[in-house]
Amino acid sequence: MSTIESVLVENRVFVPSEAMVRNARISGMDAYHALCAEAEKDYEAFWARLARENLVWTKPFGRILDESNAPFYRWFDDGELNASANCLDKHMGTPVEHKTAVVFEADDGTVTKTSYRELLSRVGQFANALKAQGICKGDRVLIYMPMTLEGVIAMQACARIGATHSVVFGGFSAKALQERIIDAGAVAVITANYQMRGGKELPLKAIVDEGLAMGGCDSVRAVFVYQRTQSACNMVSGRDRTFSEALAGQSVECAPVAVGAEHPLFILYTSGSTGKPKGVQHSTAGYLLWAKLTMDWTFDLKPEDIFWCTADIGWITGHSYVAYGPLAAGATQIMFEGVPTFPNAGRFWQMIERHQCTIFYTAPTAIRSLIKAAEGDAKVHPDRYNLKSLRILGSVGEPINPEAWMWYYRNVGGERCPIVDTFWQTETGGHMMTPLPGATPLVPGSCTLPLPGIMAGVVDEAGHDLANGVGGILVIKRPWPSMIRTIWNDPQRFKQSYFPPEMGGKLYLAGDGAVRSADRGYFRITGRIDDVLNVSGHRLGTMEIESALVSHTKLVAEAAVVGRPDELTGEAVCAFVVLKGARPEGDAARAMAKELRDWVAKEIGPIAKPKDIRFAENLPKTRSGKIMRRLLRSIAKGEAVTQDTSTLENPAILEQLGQAY
Ligand code: PRX
Repeated sequence: MSTIESVLVENRVFVPSEAMVRNARISGMDAYHALCAEAEKDYEAFWARLARENLVWTKPFGRILDESNAPFYRWFDDGELNASANCLDKHMGTPVEHKTAVVFEADDGTVTKTSYRELLSRVGQFANALKAQGICKGDRVLIYMPMTLEGVIAMQACARIGATHSVVFGGFSAKALQERIIDAGAVAVITANYQMRGGKELPLKAIVDEGLAMGGCDSVRAVFVYQRTQSACNMVSGRDRTFSEALAGQSVECAPVAVGAEHPLFILYTSGSTGKPKGVQHSTAGYLLWAKLTMDWTFDLKPEDIFWCTADIGWITGHSYVAYGPLAAGATQIMFEGVPTFPNAGRFWQMIERHQCTIFYTAPTAIRSLIKAAEGDAKVHPDRYNLKSLRILGSVGEPINPEAWMWYYRNVGGERCPIVDTFWQTETGGHMMTPLPGATPLVPGSCTLPLPGIMAGVVDEAGHDLANGVGGILVIKRPWPSMIRTIWNDPQRFKQSYFPPEMGGKLYLAGDGAVRSADRGYFRITGRIDDVLNVSGHRLGTMEIESALVSHTKLVAEAAVVGRPDELTGEAVCAFVVLKGARPEGDAARAMAKELRDWVAKEIGPIAKPKDIRFAENLPKTRSGKIMRRLLRSIAKGEAVTQDTSTLENPAILEQLGQAY
C-alpha cells in the first residue's frame, strides 16, 4: 500500500497495492462499480444470479423478491435448500473435503484440527442425537455454549434438521436465558458443564438450571450437556444427557432436511430501545447467500487463506463469520476459546504466528486494549511476533478511532494489509458497508462504501436525501436478501422499529447516524441515534438496564441510564439512581453502587454492569415529568451543562448528579 499522509486525519488515504488489486476477486474500483451498476440495472436479476451461483438448491427458485406484504419481504421463496448441506455436504468430493475446516485453539493452548469430512460426520451424528429426542423441523433450540467447535456443531446440526437455533452468549445471566427460552418457545437447550476462559472454569449448566427453575420454561423437554471439563455438574434424570450419552450409537450419516428459502435459520436476541430484547429472525437462503458472498468479497477469500474471526458464536459476527460464512466458502478457519489477554496480551499475535493466519478480523475494543497492553509491556507488542502471514485485517462492531486504526495498520498489518472496517448489524445478517481489499482506497475511521447491491443513504427525519457533508440518518433503501425478516413474536415492533411509517414505511432504518464525505461520498458512522449503547462492541439497551435497576424494588425508586464516551470500551454505561431510602454518600455510596452493579449482572449479565452509578434525590425532569436525558449525557461526560435548564423542575439536583464515585 502506498501512503499519502497529511496532518488532517480525514485526508489520509491508503490505496491498495497493485499486487492486491491484480489478484483480487473484485479487482479495482471499476470492477466494484460494474457490480453496483449490474444491481442498479436489474436489481432482482443481480441477486438471482448470485443466489444461483453461490448456493446449492435442492429445488431451484422461480420467484426472486416478493414485496406483496412489505416490509415483510421474501426472497427466493419457492426455492428449497439446506444450510448445513451448503456448508458441508457441498464440499464432499471436492479438494475441500479433506481440507482443515477448523483449527481450534483451546484456552490452555491445546490445538485440534478438524477436516470438512470429519466435521460433516460430527454434525450428522449430533443431528441424529437431536432427532432421537424428537426434535424436528420448525422446533426452536436454545444454544448456550462456550466458544468451542461443539458450539458450531450444535448450530449446524440444528440447521441440518431444520430446527431454528437461538444462541445466547455465555456471558448472559440465568434470567436473560429464561426470558429467551420463553420468548422463543425452545424445546431443548444445548449447553456445556463449564466454559474455560482465561484459565478459569466458569459454570454454564448451573446457570441453565437456574434459568429453567425460574419457571415458564415447560416447553424445554431435553438438555444436552457437553462435558468441556472434568468437573461434575448437576444432571436431571430424564431431561438432561451428556453429549456422549446422546451420541452413543448414533450414525454419522444424517440426510439434510430441505427447507424453504424463507425458513427461519435462527433467532438471535439483541437490544433495542425498549426494555425487552428483540428476537431478530433470519431466513435460510438470503442469510446464507450473504454470509458466503461477503467472505469472498470483503475478505477476498482464497483457497489457501487461514481466516480468523475472533467473535464469539453468541453474537451475529460469530454466526456469519465463524459458524456459517467460512464453512459455506470452504475456508480454513481458526477458532479460539479463550480471551486475548491470557496468558498474556500477546495471545492474538502469538496465535497469528503459530497458525500462519492470513485474514484477521476483530473488534476495535480488543485492538484498543492490546495497544494499551503493548505500551505497558514490550513483550506483548506485535513487533515481537512474526505476523508476515497476514494479508488482510478487519474491524467490526463499533466505530474504530483513527488512532487505533493507524496502530493496527502499522503494527499488526506492517503497512501492507488493507483494513476492512465493516459496518453492519445483527439485523443485516452480513456486511453492509466496507472497503474491498483489492479496490477501495482506505480512509481511517470510515467504512467507505456500500457493498454492491446495498442501497445505503443518509436522509433527514422525513426520509429525504441529504447532501454529502451533512450528517443524518442512515437508511437502506431497498430490501436485500440477508435482512431481518421479523422480530420473533412481534411483527408490529418489527415494522415500527425498522420501517417507520413517518419516513414512508419503505426505508430500512439502521438506528445509526452517518455522514458522507464531501469528496468521495464515503460513509462515516456517527453512532446510534436511539437508546442503544455500544460497550466494547456489545449492544445494550439503556431501557433494559433501567428496567433491571428498578426491578430491585426494595432499593431503587427510579433510574436513568445513558452512555458516555470511554477510551477503552468506546462507550460506558452510566446510571443515575434515586433510592427509596436516603441518598448515600462516601463509603455507603460505594457499597450501594457495588450492590446495584452486581444486581444488574444477575439480571442481564456482567457485560451490562454500569461503570458509573450516581445517586441523587431526584432525576432532572421537565415540569411535565419527562427525564431530561440530554442533560444526563452531559453530566455523565463531566461536561458543564450548557443546555437550557429553564424547563427543569428541580435545578438543585444537578450538583448532586455531578458527583461521581
Ligand atoms: O452502531 C453500529 C455498530 O454496532 C451496531 C450493531 O450492533 P450489533 O447488532 O451488535 O452488531 C455488531 C456486529 C456487526 C451498529 O448499529 N457498528 C457495527 N459495526 C460498525 C459499527 N459502527 C461503526 N463502524 C462499524 N464498522
